[in-house]
Amino acid sequence: MAFEKVLYRNLHLERLYDMDVYLSSDGYHGLAAALERKPDEVIEEVKASGLRGRGGAGFPTGVKWGFLPKVTDKPKYLCVNADEGEPGTFKDRELMEKDPHSLLEGMIIAGYALGVHKAFLYIRGEYHLAIERCQKAIDQLYARGYLGSNVCGKGFALDIIIHKGAGAYICGEETALINSIEGKRGEPRLKPPFPATSGLWACPTVVNNVETLCAVPWILAYGAKRYREFGTEKSPGTKIFSVSGCVSKPGNYELPLGTPFKVLLEDYCGGVWKGKKLKGVIPGGSSVPLLSAAECEDLNLDYESVQARGSLLGCGAVIVYDEDVCVVEASLRLAEFYAHESCGQCAPCREGTHWLAQILERIEHGQGRPEDLPAIEALLPHMKGMTICVLADSAAAVVESTLKKFRNEYEAHIKHKGCPHKKEKVFAYA
Ligand SMILES: Cc1cc2nc3c(=O)[nH]c(=O)nc-3n(C[C@H](O)[C@H](O)[C@H](O)COP(=O)(O)O)c2cc1C
Ligand code: SF4
Repeated sequence: MAFEKVLYRNLHLERLYDMDVYLSSDGYHGLAAALERKPDEVIEEVKASGLRGRGGAGFPTGVKWGFLPKVTDKPKYLCVNADEGEPGTFKDRELMEKDPHSLLEGMIIAGYALGVHKAFLYIRGEYHLAIERCQKAIDQLYARGYLGSNVCGKGFALDIIIHKGAGAYICGEETALINSIEGKRGEPRLKPPFPATSGLWACPTVVNNVETLCAVPWILAYGAKRYREFGTEKSPGTKIFSVSGCVSKPGNYELPLGTPFKVLLEDYCGGVWKGKKLKGVIPGGSSVPLLSAAECEDLNLDYESVQARGSLLGCGAVIVYDEDVCVVEASLRLAEFYAHESCGQCAPCREGTHWLAQILERIEHGQGRPEDLPAIEALLPHMKGMTICVLADSAAAVVESTLKKFRNEYEAHIKHKGCPHKKEKVFAYA
């Protein structure tokens, strides 16, 4: 498939994390183009590109930037979400480790466009190499006048500060991230007010994902029109798909949005491993519903197409299940994850995620009761749309989808008092 790489355009260069190497290619061309224009024109270019946030929700980036008040007596902030805690996601890590300057260039462009003078880069604490590479790149930028009180001699000031996360998945939710930077407990805030009007220290704030900002320099350097040549009308551009699970070649792949799932699976990932058949796919990180193999037939990987099949593209973390994966066990793992990561503010989430994990554990380990499945079905609606953030909805979504599509596996676990896969090598579900 012919297309131009946007995010991985320079990844073949050795030591790309070094500013001189980055500059030897098209490094900081996007910033130079941005600084030639007025801040509003930069926002318009990003709007015109149709770039959508890569953190999960797919909200148009230029529109989000446009929500920030133009005139305000408060400082404005940019927070970069590099917390990357979603199971199945590992794209931002690679970008920051190999190409930190793309992200920093995107941050400087965003800072200029938004009138921000202080930007925070909130990086998952376990990402030691990413933290080290980003800090070194920031030091280089200060030394060469790309950061500080007079960015590139244009009279605009910007500081970038790295903030390390401390291992809580919930701190990836934008308002929990803001609380965490403020030194408070990483708990999501009720919205409204939205960060655009009242974010960090109650000031106007934009929160953007790493991959989102990494696309911005290219858009400024080569133009929104060219960006729209890749992808679809409503999902323009390229996207990194982080593929994990039962495939021969897991990894990060940059492809145009709208690429058929089959192309990603067969041509890039070498197909389902060990010659096995596909059972299902979680297409957008563990927070979205599972699609069965039949639903993945003719599936295109763009926001609209995946939604039309009943799931979400989310952050593009594609988790592949082969025919032998026990969906009850896989759902239990995820339920335990959400129960552990719930911040506990909302009862439907605090209690619901734990009940869900307990019931699934019972079923998986042979103590399941026939009334457990109706109990799960009664519980799930109370976890959806009732809470401060969508963690509870996410926990419900994957279990709901597996129960709907693979109910026979749950029933077999209850009937045979445990996982039939583990009892017998080959098992035909009744
Ligand atoms: C529980 C939870 C965890 C999240 N974790 C992340 C994360 O690790 N990284 C991220 O970019 N967005 C994450 N998000 C989405 C952010 O709240 C936010 O939408 C995103 O950072 C906005 O950036 P974007 O517009 O560039 O996509 C999470 C959301 C929720 C509800
Ligand atoms: S839904 Fe869960 S994680 Fe989100 S705020 Fe409520 S308790 Fe916390």
